[in-house]
Amino acid sequence: MSWIIEEKGYKKDNVELNGNKFLLGNGYMGYRGTLEEFEKGQLVACNLLGVYDKVGDKWREPVNAPNGFYTGLSCDQTTLGTLNSETPEHSQWLDIKSGLHSRRSVFSAPEGNRIEVESQRFLGLFNVHLMCMKYSIKAANKCNIEIKTGIDGEVWDINGPHLTQLKPRAKGEQLVIDAATGELGCKVSVAESMAFAGEAGVEMNQQIVAEDKKILRKVTFKAQPGQVYTFFKYVSVYTGNDGVEDPSASAEADCLNAKTTGYDELSARNTAEWGKRWKISDVKISGDDTAQLALRYSIYHLLSIAPAHSDKASIPARGLSGQVYKGAIFWDTEMFMLPFFLYTNPDIARNLMRYRVHTLDGARRKAVEYGYRGAYYAWESQDTGDDACTHFNVTDVFTGRPMRTYFRDKQIHISTDVVYGIWQYFSMTGDESILLEGGAEVILECARFLMSYAYFKKDKNRYEILDVTGPDEYHERVNNNAFTNKMVKNTLEVAGKTLKLLKEKHAAVCSELVNRLGYEPELDILNEMNELLYIPQPDGNSLVIEQFDGYHRLEDISLKELKSRIIDPNEYLGGGNGIAATTKILKQADTVLMLNLFKDRYSYEVKKANWEYYEPRTEHGSSLSPCVYALLATDIGNPEWAYKYFLKTATIDLTGESKQYAGTIYIGGTHPAANGGAWMAAILGFAGVSCSGSTGIINPRLPAAWDSLEFNLVLGGQIFGVAIDKSSVTLHSEEGNTADFIFYIAGQPVSCKPEQSISVNYN
Ligand code: BGC
Repeated sequence: MSWIIEEKGYKKDNVELNGNKFLLGNGYMGYRGTLEEFEKGQLVACNLLGVYDKVGDKWREPVNAPNGFYTGLSCDQTTLGTLNSETPEHSQWLDIKSGLHSRRSVFSAPEGNRIEVESQRFLGLFNVHLMCMKYSIKAANKCNIEIKTGIDGEVWDINGPHLTQLKPRAKGEQLVIDAATGELGCKVSVAESMAFAGEAGVEMNQQIVAEDKKILRKVTFKAQPGQVYTFFKYVSVYTGNDGVEDPSASAEADCLNAKTTGYDELSARNTAEWGKRWKISDVKISGDDTAQLALRYSIYHLLSIAPAHSDKASIPARGLSGQVYKGAIFWDTEMFMLPFFLYTNPDIARNLMRYRVHTLDGARRKAVEYGYRGAYYAWESQDTGDDACTHFNVTDVFTGRPMRTYFRDKQIHISTDVVYGIWQYFSMTGDESILLEGGAEVILECARFLMSYAYFKKDKNRYEILDVTGPDEYHERVNNNAFTNKMVKNTLEVAGKTLKLLKEKHAAVCSELVNRLGYEPELDILNEMNELLYIPQPDGNSLVIEQFDGYHRLEDISLKELKSRIIDPNEYLGGGNGIAATTKILKQADTVLMLNLFKDRYSYEVKKANWEYYEPRTEHGSSLSPCVYALLATDIGNPEWAYKYFLKTATIDLTGESKQYAGTIYIGGTHPAANGGAWMAAILGFAGVSCSGSTGIINPRLPAAWDSLEFNLVLGGQIFGVAIDKSSVTLHSEEGNTADFIFYIAGQPVSCKPEQSISVNYN
């Protein structure tokens, strides 16, 4: 039960949401949870990772490939489908254990006939180019069935059309659409093959037809009552980014191969691949079915969008659910998704961080654009690392005019987040290659950018970070945002540690790098700024850390009061004219995020005081916010405060309860940062896991509703099973482990020997 997401009955209004909810993905592409008869109008999309295109002066966004699953059906000349037939029975479900999407519909057909359709599909994990589908038809009475199935080249675009020179063609039994993107001429080819399951004695007519941008095969036959007619579709997608000579030839060959292997065998292989991923990543919660399903579903999304096949792309803020947010990579990846991969699949974590190395030059260009040195990473990063974010990123709902926003030019914490991510990866895995292969350069260049951004205040004898926007985007262009300043300090520290490590262990690499970057003159500033950087401190009485200079002078109103001032449900609350900007209401966790990231450096009292102060003032207007409150609540020993925020985070893509518009811009889609946040809240929060170098720490504080929690951790290249119940922690060093590993369970050190189990009471 806890692996299936299902919706019964066809609801027209849910088409858009279900596209997200029933999404399939394999890191290379995402296929929205639409039905086979759907077209562009129902937001069908096969969203490609890392292939971007720009049309005219519209936003650059990721490209959707032609839809190789398109299938239309008619019975006795009447078109059937949820869009135009009476559909007395319908259900759509996702088996998240095997990455299988299914639907079953019964349509009313002419002469009182009833036609039942069942389909199942998956995207290849073992071969990321492959998409396979099985489709069955059963008629209650004798009738003439016509199937039109093939490739639909009319794709859903927000700022398209991106595919030019669309060339549909048939090659023997195979159908192909070749296309190229307009801006860069990147080839996109989709090939499709079909095979009937071969019901005895059926005479079928097949004909290739081209309709608009579709290339289809029309199959007609006389259906006998109760007989099931099944066919399979094998689709392959290749692009000019895949390093193959001829994407079209590769797609053709790939889908013919798949056809030879057959659906059942391919499906079994795929399920086995999913099984491997789940074996490490699954988390079992007993006592709370809602939390169990929601957490697994969150993990499913992370597994489906993880770029296991490439280190040149990372995870966009809306995953692979469409073109929303320009398919761009934000700080969401480093701060909210990376931990899941670090603790369960460090190879993918490495790919995510390598993407930042590949895009370093884009970050350098952005620094130059604003008159700084070093690397200023893109707020919205695509394939080259140049910033896709515009200076007018929100539209005013009242005037219809673009609003000046400062996400792009002032959210400098992005460079600190990248460094935080790389260092986390290095600290947890000990993999120096990340530093040697460009990571150290990224760190030094980010530190250099921050040195050029900072101001030295002679009168105060300190460095300050002025004119920034912190995570709380409602308050733009503020001074000394506590989160940003602390992250800047961390970057400087990491730069210092990186240089020390290189000097000690890789002296030649170190001097080559320092020389090549002309970094020698920066070294003194680095040390001085690290020493003299101003970090906002807890107030002597209240212990509250002011979010930024002057925050305490803002109007202190309740969230309810702020909401009562809203005129249009989609109005943007931040920025110059936004109603939140003059108040203390924050969009998302800011100071509380800082306290969570650096929890070991602040006292229990400070963390508690700030959680209690900022919590009622936080709108959670970003899906990134609730998990942070959950994390800090568990840290201060209050899992019940954390629980509601955990659940809000973990259920976001199931309920679809999230902001769909920012101003007039559609921002719906899946929420990978929240998916990562749900995992963090469970494992780093309720289980209290952390890892410092070669030791693991577990400080359980389960919510009352949970009887136990079971999961795996990959630490130091070894896998450990962890089972926590109300009073004990059981650790199991998995088969194949070769070294002892030290854990601290609620403060008690235990050595976990290879392939052994050990139980410890924690209360
Ligand atoms: C949040 C950002 C986030 C972005 C993408 C915005 O609403 O405020 O922090 O990076 O969405 O998820």
